[in-house]
Amino acid sequence: MRVRIKGDALCTLILVIALCTLFYRQLRKHPQNQDNITKKPAKESKIPAGTVNSKKHLEPDVRLGKAKLLSEVYNAEVGSEEAKLTIPVSPTQSPFDFQLYLRSKDHRNFSLLINQPNKCRKNLEGPFLLIAVKSIVEDFDRREIVRKTWGREGVINGVRVQRVFLLGTPRNETAVSMWGSLLQQESHFYKDILLWDFIDTFFNLTLKEIHFLSWADKFCENVKFIFKGDADVFVNVENLVNFLRPQSPLEDLFVGDIINHAKPIRSRKSKYYIPETMYGLGNYPAYAGGGGFLMSAVTMKKLSRACEEVELFPIDDVFLGMCLQRINLKPVLHEGFKTFGITKPSAAPHLQTFDPCFYRDLMVVHSLRAAEIWLMWNLLHSQQLPCSQRQRIKKPFHWKRKKAKQTTKGITN
Ligand SMILES: *[C@@H]1O[C@H](CO)[C@@H](O)[C@H](O)[C@H]1NC(C)=O
Ligand SMILES: *[C@@H]1O[C@H](CO)[C@@H](O)[C@H](O)[C@H]1NC(C)=O
Ligand SMILES: *[C@@H]1O[C@H](CO)[C@@H](O)[C@H](O)[C@H]1NC(C)=O
Ligand SMILES: *[C@@H]1O[C@H](CO)[C@@H](O)[C@H](O)[C@H]1NC(C)=O
Repeated sequence: MRVRIKGDALCTLILVIALCTLFYRQLRKHPQNQDNITKKPAKESKIPAGTVNSKKHLEPDVRLGKAKLLSEVYNAEVGSEEAKLTIPVSPTQSPFDFQLYLRSKDHRNFSLLINQPNKCRKNLEGPFLLIAVKSIVEDFDRREIVRKTWGREGVINGVRVQRVFLLGTPRNETAVSMWGSLLQQESHFYKDILLWDFIDTFFNLTLKEIHFLSWADKFCENVKFIFKGDADVFVNVENLVNFLRPQSPLEDLFVGDIINHAKPIRSRKSKYYIPETMYGLGNYPAYAGGGGFLMSAVTMKKLSRACEEVELFPIDDVFLGMCLQRINLKPVLHEGFKTFGITKPSAAPHLQTFDPCFYRDLMVVHSLRAAEIWLMWNLLHSQQLPCSQRQRIKKPFHWKRKKAKQTTKGITN
């Protein structure tokens, strides 16, 4: 008998617990059923009340806070839902809208938000070399490294060198708070910022190209030569200057790591995918790979005009190749430009990673991290380098890169 009663009691207990659990779960699923003693008011109590003490005065603040909190909660919930649904299509990887690009192609005149009108007008002669570096607003530190290393302004090997950074507006304005005033200050301090009113995306780099050329034509017409490059390159400016000195700024010159007969990439997965509707020919015109290129003043002026007549093309290097084709100028390959960084051992099997003697003979090396640029520059300029004229180091080459960046914009033969 006793055992049975005990058993019944136990059963009842288990049932009650089960029911309670169920009820509790239901409650949690539908928070609107709950009374006010829930998480939300608890959160509300965390809102800093500020200096307001009276409840009446507190009300609007609290309401504001509540609205904010609710929207946060809502966003978090919706966000997580969306995240679950759309993980493969993150906004940065969303497919490029070629239709939209083609439709808005004629909108290609954007205003200059920050200018350096006196960059080239400090003395009558104008700079020998203008260094123009593509950058994005977020890269404050990279610009700083470039300023302190190869991008230094002043007299280098007897000639005047000036510098500008080329920027568009940030893609995500909320990610860089106060970017506008930060940039104003940076510009005020260094006087090397050019900012245009288009969104700084990969596919808008062509706009940057056009706008820079027309800026140079207008505000830097007295320059002799221009180097235009990325912020992740190492440039041996002394070598550039030595190379340019015997050249005439009045003659055409376009030198870089030239890529010939590249085929458009037709694979949709590639960052450089170009559909046939956009470019029907089998080969791209010869173009200078990223990293950087050199041009003379007269070439800059011709290109500035030519590029205004060429239809926009989303890959800026290739676009410039089209402009070159239009002015019938064959770009010249120079071995000193290493567009792809030194990724393949076969490119330089006898060299060590941080052998400054190697950099000494180069002009431009692409895809470097800020620290690498800093280190190389300091090694090169520290003391007399112990390099012989034709030194060969017989050690295995090991360039430690985390991952090989995709570097070709077309398929080269
Ligand atoms: C919950 O709060 C609302 C206002 O915030 C109030 O109108 C309602 O009576 C409260 N309910 C309970 C059960 O306290
Ligand atoms: C671009 O716009 C500016 C004014 O915003 C104007 O002065 C200039 O002529 C325009 N250029 C072209 C090519 O339309
Ligand atoms: C913009 O940046 C903010 C802050 O980093 C981030 O919360 C937001 O999700 C970003 N927006 C987009 C569209 O990437
Ligand atoms: C280029 O910038 C313009 C102006 O900010 C913008 O409307 C357009 O969407 C951008 N295009 C691309 C392909 O990012």
